[in-house]
Amino acid sequence: MHSGAASQGHPRASWLGPRQTMLEVFIALLSCVVCRICAFVMEVIIQPSQEAASLLAAKMIASLVRRKPAAVLGLATGSTPLGLYRELARMHREEGLDFQRATTFNLDEYVGLAPGHPASYHHFMRENLFRHINVAPGNTHIPDGLSCDIPATCEAYEASIRAAGGIDLQILGIGSDGHIGFNEPASSLASRTRIKTLTPRTRADNAPFFAQGEEVPHHVITMGIGTILETRQVLLLGFGLKKAEALAAAIEGPVSPMVPASALHFHPRAHVILDEAAATRLERTDYYRHVFDNKPVWQKQ
Ligand code: GLP
Repeated sequence: MHSGAASQGHPRASWLGPRQTMLEVFIALLSCVVCRICAFVMEVIIQPSQEAASLLAAKMIASLVRRKPAAVLGLATGSTPLGLYRELARMHREEGLDFQRATTFNLDEYVGLAPGHPASYHHFMRENLFRHINVAPGNTHIPDGLSCDIPATCEAYEASIRAAGGIDLQILGIGSDGHIGFNEPASSLASRTRIKTLTPRTRADNAPFFAQGEEVPHHVITMGIGTILETRQVLLLGFGLKKAEALAAAIEGPVSPMVPASALHFHPRAHVILDEAAATRLERTDYYRHVFDNKPVWQKQ
């Protein structure tokens, strides 16, 4: 609907969108302030493919790093963020995206695996991201799976996140059982970095990353759900039919420790970026697409 002022021929401010009135802009600004104070937002973004979703996530991260070169990034492992990491590496190589001042914290690591073990998350991060960008090795953090004092290691991990000023943006994948990090179903929604025991399902899901016949560890160190909820922004990526059920439970089901990703409804700024296959069990896809396609300009940054 056009504004009364515009239809009466009054000049419009050049920065107003074609359908915006001053009142709408005022309301938008007000809600922006309110959002920052108290709103909890879970934005569901459905992309045509895994590649498109990875590119969008990479753009969001690049925009943060350009705006805040000393950004603190929370990183994830698994097959899900591989396309995103490839794109960040390309942006570094071809567009000069600079990670020199960035700091990173990984979500988790297997207990008992040395950093050189091919299935360790230390190895994964080195091979798939760190060696392709210019992040300073001293600025990267991954829980120490060989620690002799795991509670102290976990406490120190939380302390170093705090000392870095907190995590600006956390990347997450999702387990087929709805876990985030390695917070398996029934994890406390207030949990902090700690040791966890993996479920047989997660061990089976992650077996392909291990050599044939090699046992997947039973124990891991993982940031807690409470730790993740304290990050300033979350990008949860979910791809493929295998994740569709967990994502539907997390997005449209009740918030429950049985679906750890559902805790993101309590996150102040969570974006869930899916490909079409991962969105197949959602009921409100038309609405999510409509919202994304009609975002007000001020929300697009
Ligand atoms: C592991 C990781 C999670 C990851 C999940 C999904 O459990 N700890 O951070 O999200 O695997 O893995 P994939 O992306 O390979 O499906």
